Amino acid sequence: MLRRTLLLSAIAIPALSACASTVGAADPMAPLPHDTSSHARPDEARVRHVSLDLTADFDRKVFHGKATLDIVARNDAREIVLDSDGLVIRAVRAGTREAAYTIGEVSAGKGAPLTIQLNGPRQIEIEYESAPNASALQWLEPAQTASNKRFLFSQGQSIHNRTWIPTQDSPGIRQTYDARIVVPADLKAVMSAEMLTPDGEPAGEGQRAFRFRMPQPIPPYLIAIGIGDLAFRAVGPRTGVYAEPSVVERGAYECADMERMMDVAEALYGPYRWGRYDVLILPPSFPYGGMENPRLTFLTPTFLAGDRSLVSLVAHELAHSWSGNLVTNAVWADSWLNEGFTSYIEGRIGEALFGAEHARMAEALAWTDIQAALTTVTPDGQRLHWVGEVDANENSSAITYDKGATFLRTVERIVGRDRLDSYLRSYFDRYAFQPMTTQAFLADFRQHVVRGDAALEARLMLDQWAYEPGIPSNAVAPVASGFDEIPNYVAAFVAGGPAAAAPWEHWNTMQRQRYLQTMPRQLPAERLRELERAFALDTIGNMEVRFDWLMIAVRNGYQPSGPAVERFLSEQGRGKFVRPIYRALMDEGAWGQNLARTLYRNVRGRYHPIVQAGVDRIVTPA
Ligand code: BES
Ligand code: ZN
Repeated sequence: MLRRTLLLSAIAIPALSACASTVGAADPMAPLPHDTSSHARPDEARVRHVSLDLTADFDRKVFHGKATLDIVARNDAREIVLDSDGLVIRAVRAGTREAAYTIGEVSAGKGAPLTIQLNGPRQIEIEYESAPNASALQWLEPAQTASNKRFLFSQGQSIHNRTWIPTQDSPGIRQTYDARIVVPADLKAVMSAEMLTPDGEPAGEGQRAFRFRMPQPIPPYLIAIGIGDLAFRAVGPRTGVYAEPSVVERGAYECADMERMMDVAEALYGPYRWGRYDVLILPPSFPYGGMENPRLTFLTPTFLAGDRSLVSLVAHELAHSWSGNLVTNAVWADSWLNEGFTSYIEGRIGEALFGAEHARMAEALAWTDIQAALTTVTPDGQRLHWVGEVDANENSSAITYDKGATFLRTVERIVGRDRLDSYLRSYFDRYAFQPMTTQAFLADFRQHVVRGDAALEARLMLDQWAYEPGIPSNAVAPVASGFDEIPNYVAAFVAGGPAAAAPWEHWNTMQRQRYLQTMPRQLPAERLRELERAFALDTIGNMEVRFDWLMIAVRNGYQPSGPAVERFLSEQGRGKFVRPIYRALMDEGAWGQNLARTLYRNVRGRYHPIVQAGVDRIVTPA
């Protein structure tokens, strides 16, 4: 087993093998597939290290300061091309001298190339500031936080970090980083890196500085920052929770299983290579469920159900410490290598902690999502490896996540769990801190598992899974006995029986979701009132369940739940919840459209720029 240590990958050794299936090996200039989402030309010159010295200006909603980049370049390289989006460049220096630079044409969603002349020195310093509307950053007003203090967080994936960091923003180009961040003295900064100054250090009148270091080379979308009134609670020796003080206890309760999750993942896939694993619970406008920023997963507060029933989210983000952060999709068209693998590992962690039946229920819910995607998504959108013009922001999760995970579960069933486990462990070792493509993964899998066995090759249908639309015929629908009785309860309710006949109190969250998700699309108002009253669905604390209910209510134009819909859309801004509700409202004629337009006018400003952009396309003017 060939294991490239961090030390080896940090120095410039040539690629250890010329095998065409190996991308981005330890050679810092190893060839990369073309990334249509980046302006960088990594075959000429690459950023290897980013050093940030930035001040967070909450009044102007900008970062200003400088980024110093260490570069590796071909001997004949005359320039390096970075990504930038809305950055205001003040000066660029190479060594001690001013360096010539140009900002090229902006292309939609990708920003502009920032091209800097290279005259010898392999270190460049860029003095700049971000724009107040940088899409990676959300500057929150005190009223938007639990502490009633200002808050800032970043979201890099997929191509947003170029709005606050001038670097090559392509997932195949790995960079180490360090940072010094100056913030108002009543706030604390955290980053996806080792914290060097837990209490900060003085940095002039009313300000404190926090320093960080990320010694492992990471794709630049994983550089992340949070600034706010943050407290910390340890939950295990290597794990803990950062959140605003009034949230941190609830957070620590919800995350109690984190250390065990790490142990399970390490036993399966090898050592956790990042030091600590902490989570940061963000204010409710965080646009995603979670984001796997290394050493510091970012989480939505909407997973705080009070009963640990939504912690598969944490298992998912932790799993990215292997699939995604250690072995990384070289281009966004191969997102399934990050998300599909991670969803599979999430399931394995859940199975180890909560049992096989729990895992089967999660698989069954995902299977239903896949079936829905097969009827709603175009054939091109049903491929794991995206073809054609792909928007790095678009992502049918049922395909990338659930079809991807189903692929690995199919492989598991055919080759055996032990064989897949030991293969995956060796895969993470072989390609640690390297980019990966679908092609390279399939070649590696064939080399180590299929080994020319034609019968096995035929049974696996690897190419069909990776490159074709739909679900190949060797997939097996998951069977969850915990769902067996649910159709009967749905039928009894639809026939007019009391909702309380269902054993709701004994059901777990996934069973409740199954019950709601399998209700007929049209229900009379009287049935909806009965359902809501039986389980207090308008106000139920579990946000996944409340979302499923509100989708039913909206799709039936059930106006008594209008206020609950407004509350739901006002109190959190998670895209996965917010977008489908607005979409359903806009499909509902005058009632829904009026509600959506009026409400959105009021709450748009609270949503994250990424979510605003999505909802802007849904809630169109009358
Ligand atoms: N890496 C993703 C979040 C992401 C995906 C950000 C694409 C930007 C573009 C993260 O790991 C994720 O998948 N989050 C999910 C939760 C998960 C349990 C499916 C989410 O946010 O809902
Ligand atoms: Zn993920």
